Amino acid sequence: MSPVVLIGYMGAGKTTIGRQLALNMKVDFYDLDWYIEDRFRKKIPQIFAEKGEEGFRDLERRMLHEVAEFEDVVVSCGGGTPCFFDNMDYLNARTETVWLRATPEVLQAHLGMGKSVRPLIQGKTPEELHDFIVESLRTREPFYAKAKHIIDIEVIHTKEQIDKYVKDIASLTANNTH
Ligand code: S3P
Repeated sequence: MSPVVLIGYMGAGKTTIGRQLALNMKVDFYDLDWYIEDRFRKKIPQIFAEKGEEGFRDLERRMLHEVAEFEDVVVSCGGGTPCFFDNMDYLNARTETVWLRATPEVLQAHLGMGKSVRPLIQGKTPEELHDFIVESLRTREPFYAKAKHIIDIEVIHTKEQIDKYVKDIASLTANNTH
């Protein structure tokens, strides 16, 4: 099976849903941010601080090319991964891409619940965060929209909701046998 790759904005639920999807499909799960942190022994905010966003995007692209070559895996990308270089075309050529699509309100609710430190949104007030999400979705959605499959995500409160999304993604990508 070629990789199932989850894309979408920060806070869409890529890691939460991806981990459960991999468990259900009995395959390995790779979160691209964690893979980068493991390989470079540094947290994402530290990489941003030392190399800037441009340096981070170079590393991210290189690491994407490693995980997308694995077989029988579920991968969750970073929110920006599909929007740089030819990453989205590269992914579509070899993987089953799934966009976890959510409104700015859903994304903001999830980001408020999460514990991850995200350099691009650190220190923003709720109003600033809302405007930032709306603005960046405008430039990012055309990239996300190239995904082969789309799932609409609501605010996740329960395990049942996660299981439902997992089931939907599994059936959307079920013919993925190459
Ligand atoms: C980013 C999203 C983050 C991480 C980095 C940049 C982005 O991943 O890759 O902070 O540009 O949207 P998550 O979407 O997993 O938070």
